[in-house]
Amino acid sequence: MDDLELSRPLAPGDEPPRVRAATFPPRYRIHKYWGKKPGNVVAAYIERFSEPGALVLDLFAGSGVVLAESLLTGRRGVAIDLNPIAGLITRVTVEGADPAVFAAEASRIQEAGRDLRRALFGERCDRCGVDADIVSTAFEGERALRITLDCARCGTTVQAPRAGDPRLDPGGSGLPAVGDHPDEALYVGWEMRKLARRGLTRWSELFTRRNLVAVAFLRRAIEGVSDAKVRRALLVSFSAHLAQSTRMIGDSTSRGGGPSWKLNCYWLPTTWLELNPFRYFENRIKRTAQGLADMATRLPRPARDGDDYRIVTGSSERLGDVVAAGSVGYVFTDPPYGGEGIQYGELSMLWNLWCGEAMTMEREVAFNPVQKKTETDYARRLTECMAAAHTALSAGGFATVTFANKDRGVWRALLQACKTAGLELRAAVPMTPSAPNLTNILSDAAPKADVILTFQKPRSKRSIDR
Ligand SMILES: C[S@@+](CC[C@H](N)C(=O)[O-])C[C@H]1O[C@@H](n2cnc3c(N)ncnc32)[C@H](O)[C@@H]1O
Ligand SMILES: [Zn+2]
Repeated sequence: MDDLELSRPLAPGDEPPRVRAATFPPRYRIHKYWGKKPGNVVAAYIERFSEPGALVLDLFAGSGVVLAESLLTGRRGVAIDLNPIAGLITRVTVEGADPAVFAAEASRIQEAGRDLRRALFGERCDRCGVDADIVSTAFEGERALRITLDCARCGTTVQAPRAGDPRLDPGGSGLPAVGDHPDEALYVGWEMRKLARRGLTRWSELFTRRNLVAVAFLRRAIEGVSDAKVRRALLVSFSAHLAQSTRMIGDSTSRGGGPSWKLNCYWLPTTWLELNPFRYFENRIKRTAQGLADMATRLPRPARDGDDYRIVTGSSERLGDVVAAGSVGYVFTDPPYGGEGIQYGELSMLWNLWCGEAMTMEREVAFNPVQKKTETDYARRLTECMAAAHTALSAGGFATVTFANKDRGVWRALLQACKTAGLELRAAVPMTPSAPNLTNILSDAAPKADVILTFQKPRSKRSIDR
């Protein structure tokens, strides 16, 4: 890429660290937020380009990997993201929750849901006659094809659906009433087109009636938790499982990774699985507990909100109220990729809705024809954010930006944004991924790795003119 011209390469010894991305440790497996960056690479950069105790800024914080690694390496951090669910995941990751209270509340919820769970997902095992728990029900369109059970005697077993079982009607009559739940009209953005085509008009229609009853119960039970940190950790676990409780789970269990929301858009596969929300929520609870333990054992001391870190939900176009000019020692950030990149705002709507959060997508750095955001809007907003980062950064400070795109125009927008902001490109290094992602496998045109660009804020005005 000829646009990737360095103004002055860094001296040997000052060059960026070259580390192969490691797979995600438990602390980054709490939630499947998109675009997570490998913590070990982030940590190596923070250690190379900032001093212990320095303030590290992430303008597009996502699930908070940069903030977490800043704290783990003895720095302080500010994480900013427009998306409320991103802030929530980040908060849970860095602030943790009392493990004993978390475990106690999780089993209290399980206990409170026992009867409802049996009513919704209890089924007699045809092989041994014992009562078992439904793991999933496979559907083709609205017709149930088979049931997978977890039987105490037979283990995992598959059997035919029982004729006339009212629970197998996705529209659901003859089921317990659905508790309080968000039932907003569907927002028809770019990534909801497939749903609109299928005639969906409300968010609640993403669930079968049975699963809507279950997820509404779970959310209600979480709301009743009095310890705020534990409640947030449970809410993040709940949101991490939520897509698995929708009709967006294709019946393709033979493909790796277990049943999950596989596409970066909302959709309704024709053959699909209705998973048991109680089970999948429990899985997420375990992951959260592991993640919190991982973070807690690695932190030198518990991080203090306000002193060691701040988490801000808002746009990075203006940082004046958040960080004083020149107060930031290092910036590490991973901006949205524009073009055909992930639509973070739209794809997070389901989570935000169920977490009682609203996001103002207007200010999102994105290219989105349905939201009428052009490439120019993308470039303009990105430039504003990078200019704000430049102001926040101390003179001579470094700013590392990770980026990937197939489109040269989008690349140019990023480089131009940093240049206009007054940042000089000092190094560009490919990130070696630990495992190729789906896009990389499917598309030859996709770049095989992100590039990690490191810029510097010149020490004086003179060096900009040069
Ligand atoms: C590529 S993701 C960051 C992922 C992150 N590196 C991680 O490890 O999880 C980009 C993020 O930018 C956020 N974003 C988009 N526009 C923004 C804006 N104007 N201000 C702050 N954040 C914004 C999105 O919500 C999204 O979470
Ligand atoms: Zn059995």
